[in-house]
Amino acid sequence: MTHASLASLFTPFNGGGLSLKNRFAMAPMTRWKSPDQFPGPDVAAYYRRRAENDVALIITEGTTIDHSVASQSTRIPAFHGRALDGWRRVADEVHAAGAKIAPQIWHVGAMRSPKDEYPNADLPSATPSGYYKPGGKQIAPPIGKAEIQGIADSYARAAETARTLGFDAVEVHGAHGYLIDQFLWEGLNQRDDEYGGDDVARTRFAVEVVKAIRAAIGPDFPLILRISQWKQQDYTAKLAATPEAFAAILKPIAEAGVDIFHCSQRRWWEPEFPGSDLNCAGWVKQLTGKPVITVGSVGLAGALALGAELGAHAEASTDIAPLAHGVEHGDFDIVAVGRALISDPEWVRKVKQGRLDELRPYDKSKLETLY
Ligand code: FNR
Repeated sequence: MTHASLASLFTPFNGGGLSLKNRFAMAPMTRWKSPDQFPGPDVAAYYRRRAENDVALIITEGTTIDHSVASQSTRIPAFHGRALDGWRRVADEVHAAGAKIAPQIWHVGAMRSPKDEYPNADLPSATPSGYYKPGGKQIAPPIGKAEIQGIADSYARAAETARTLGFDAVEVHGAHGYLIDQFLWEGLNQRDDEYGGDDVARTRFAVEVVKAIRAAIGPDFPLILRISQWKQQDYTAKLAATPEAFAAILKPIAEAGVDIFHCSQRRWWEPEFPGSDLNCAGWVKQLTGKPVITVGSVGLAGALALGAELGAHAEASTDIAPLAHGVEHGDFDIVAVGRALISDPEWVRKVKQGRLDELRPYDKSKLETLY
């Protein structure tokens, strides 16, 4: 039986046009297991297994929009062309298991090295000012305005495809130093046209993407935007140093048509600004009034590290009650679980049934298969 202190995590969620049976989502995680960009039956079974074990919302791994340099690899699933047959099956299987599903649509921007394997690339990569890292060397020319508008249209097509394939929502990857975040981040956006400038001017690309998507999907299909202060290029980077600066950035983006914000932290319990216990999601909820998803080391005693380390090992943590308290208190609405759900497809069910002593640690070796 669910322990009373965890009960709020198993109450239904209704907000931003989305209804869920409980508060747990699977965090988006790239698995590099879609050869020729096609998510096969093994990918569908992998997501279905989590859905069968009480995850209320599956947010898929990043899946790339139909721009020529959106992807880093042919092993990352596309969200266009023949890959859509695979995605239709993924959505059907997740639905049959009683969960909802949103694809995470993605453009990697400067994270794509010109050396990466990817067919039909007509540019080295698409980036606001050509940099992968602040102060690094320029790897590509800044993209032009026509290209920017074309990319916004690609996002809109992908979101509309999610709706027509029967997905329940769409998540846009605006976090972790990928294309949308590259425009938001001063360190990588040095443009002197209307897409660059101060904090608010740098939101223009995100705003145009959200508006283009909203125009394509209509008013009722839920649009989730994932954002983060931290970047893969720099864990300590921040878009905003104060709540006031954060509010100025969030306001135009929220007004463009976001229903739910997904606020990525490496450790969900860390306060975002001095003087308050609120985490990033808590602040975004307060500043925008929108429902929010929190994430970061849920169920684990070690934070995500990327690249070679990819969080090599993290012990299981049974300290779940603070999350339930955050939901009860209204700090955040939904809790996304990443690595704990890679190690243990039954993670949510075990929490629901009070089997906390059975939660498994995370180990990088678990990434080798799609179990
Ligand atoms: C990730 N993460 C991630 N985030 C994202 O927005 N899109 C993605 O495609 C990926 N890919 C990815 C792959 C792998 C193997 C890991 C471990 C992580 C980040 C992920 O969604 C989540 O924010 C972090 O893992 C932190 O949550 P946990 O793992 O501490 O619960």
